[in-house]
Amino acid sequence: MIRPGPHHAAGAPPETQPLPAAELEPERKPVIRLVSVVKTYGTGEAAVQALRGVSLDVVERDYVAIMGASGSGKSTLMNIIGCLDVPSEGEFLIDGIDTGTLDEQQLAVLRNRKIGFVFQAFNLIPRMSALANVELPLSYAGVKAAERRRRAEAALLLVGLAERTDAQPKQLSGGQQQRVAVARALVTSPSLILADEPTGNLDTRASHDLMDVFDRLNAAGRTIVVITHEADVAKHAKRIIGVQDGHIVSDRRVTPPGALPPLLRRPVDGPVRP
Ligand SMILES: Nc1ncnc2c1ncn2[C@@H]1O[C@H](COP(=O)(O)OP(=O)(O)O)[C@@H](O)[C@H]1O
Ligand SMILES: [Mg+2]
Repeated sequence: MIRPGPHHAAGAPPETQPLPAAELEPERKPVIRLVSVVKTYGTGEAAVQALRGVSLDVVERDYVAIMGASGSGKSTLMNIIGCLDVPSEGEFLIDGIDTGTLDEQQLAVLRNRKIGFVFQAFNLIPRMSALANVELPLSYAGVKAAERRRRAEAALLLVGLAERTDAQPKQLSGGQQQRVAVARALVTSPSLILADEPTGNLDTRASHDLMDVFDRLNAAGRTIVVITHEADVAKHAKRIIGVQDGHIVSDRRVTPPGALPPLLRRPVDGPVRP
């Protein structure tokens, strides 16, 4: 292993001798942890095992793509990670909190605090402005009006929609609507942004713009899990997990959790805007 020693001091600055990535990575705490999670729908003859023993840690600042064919268990996994459903067996922890000990109401509070959702179908409220849509999760959390407005405007600025805060969803393109949904997902500063096929209803150009927003959010420190079957989406992630028949069948680390996401590392992509 080559370390920048004193003999480098007179010549090149030490920064030109980067340490191996692993040495630059501090210990990161898991934002979510699944331990041998089994999910069974139905009972007896009709029982379907959608997850068959999934163990997985996702650490802070990571950017994970979960890929798999239709029926492989992706949505089931998303529902558990998003505290929308609970495992039949095994454990699920979020920020170290064991969700198995919580009742439904406590789970709902945890979901509101810790998870920012982005769905394929945007799920915006129709006759409300972009700003009001983004403020909504803050209203649920009891944040005062002026503070809500300030934070919602900042979130819309982050996704490139500062000019369209008054527009209703129907006045926006699909790509813009999805970026409003991303602003709504991040406005509460959740521990995790969880996206299920976020580009599923977008054209190529809008998909590219959306993934660019995700890259920049991750570069700014947000932890992201995106469920997708599109390789073009997965190539943005730092870690790519394959799911098949309710099992994790592959797990590929592309770049360390603390590094820039892979497509921001390429100089051809231009300057990094965190
Ligand atoms: N509510 C449900 N009741 C019964 N079976 C279900 C239910 N949800 C999903 N399944 C079954 O569980 C398996 C995994 O489904 P799902 O998690 O939706 O996969 P994916 O999102 O990868 O398409 C499939 O066989 C599906 O039919
Ligand atoms: Mg699905």
